[in-house]
Amino acid sequence: MLEGKVILIVGGASGIGRATAELCVRRGARVIVADYNATAGAAAAAACGAEFVQVNVADENSVQQMAAQVDAKFGRLDGLVQTAGVLKGPFIDIEKFELDMFREVLEINLVGSFLCAKHSAPLMRRAGGGVIVLISSAAAYAGSSSYAYGSSKGGVSGLGITLANKLAPENIRVNVVAPGNIETPMKRSVIDADVALNGPQAGQAQLSLGTPEGVARILAWLVSDDADYVRGLITTR
Ligand SMILES: NC(=O)c1ccc[n+]([C@@H]2O[C@H](COP(=O)([O-])OP(=O)(O)OC[C@H]3O[C@@H](n4cnc5c(N)ncnc54)[C@H](O)[C@@H]3O)[C@@H](O)[C@H]2O)c1
Repeated sequence: MLEGKVILIVGGASGIGRATAELCVRRGARVIVADYNATAGAAAAAACGAEFVQVNVADENSVQQMAAQVDAKFGRLDGLVQTAGVLKGPFIDIEKFELDMFREVLEINLVGSFLCAKHSAPLMRRAGGGVIVLISSAAAYAGSSSYAYGSSKGGVSGLGITLANKLAPENIRVNVVAPGNIETPMKRSVIDADVALNGPQAGQAQLSLGTPEGVARILAWLVSDDADYVRGLITTR
């Protein structure tokens, strides 16, 4: 169902991105895993038969080079799934929340999503269309996470809806996916920190977690032609 498609999974070294890269390869796509973590990214790509490109999504030159490498290797781009993100400071009070940390999270989660879309859209336009999938979070709506993370994910939702509106005439579909609580290294670090602070009965420890593969099934479907009537924001378990 993804035969012939070139799919770029940013943040594909770990968690939801890695599971999505594996599934897209299994469904016949040619996949590029891009990630800041070169060791884990190269290993994840090698394990499933994808290519690897190192990128820092917060750095425009780096994102531009990633797009240029995809273009040089494949000459087209059909799908972008931007899963790279960080969660910092979930238990820091507002008056102690450092501006530097707030900015860092926005630079990666929100500015990074903007830059990946900005440098992928021209390749898709040239191929006659494509799909961009950005990852928000239930945290943007439930208010359950850090000040910086919730703000960044609310921004990603607004960015995605704006992109969807403006790129639709060029046959570029944009969807935003907001997962719930998923068993990944990111989520595990929050649970561990909550337990260390508040003991084994901490709220995060009581959450029932979904699997990265569960979200990957939705993401791999969204970059396929079968999802061409899907619009806007999708929430998941
Ligand atoms: N796990 C959850 O419960 C959950 C819930 C809602 C949303 N999300 C979102 O899903 C996405 C994937 O999260 P995950 O849980 O799989 O996390 P993860 O930590 O397992 O994976 C995130 C990946 O992003 C990469 N990354 C971080 N900063 C980067 C940068 N500057 N440039 C390039 N790559 C960078 C990391 O190296 C890592 O491989 C994130 O956007 C996260 O906010 C996760």
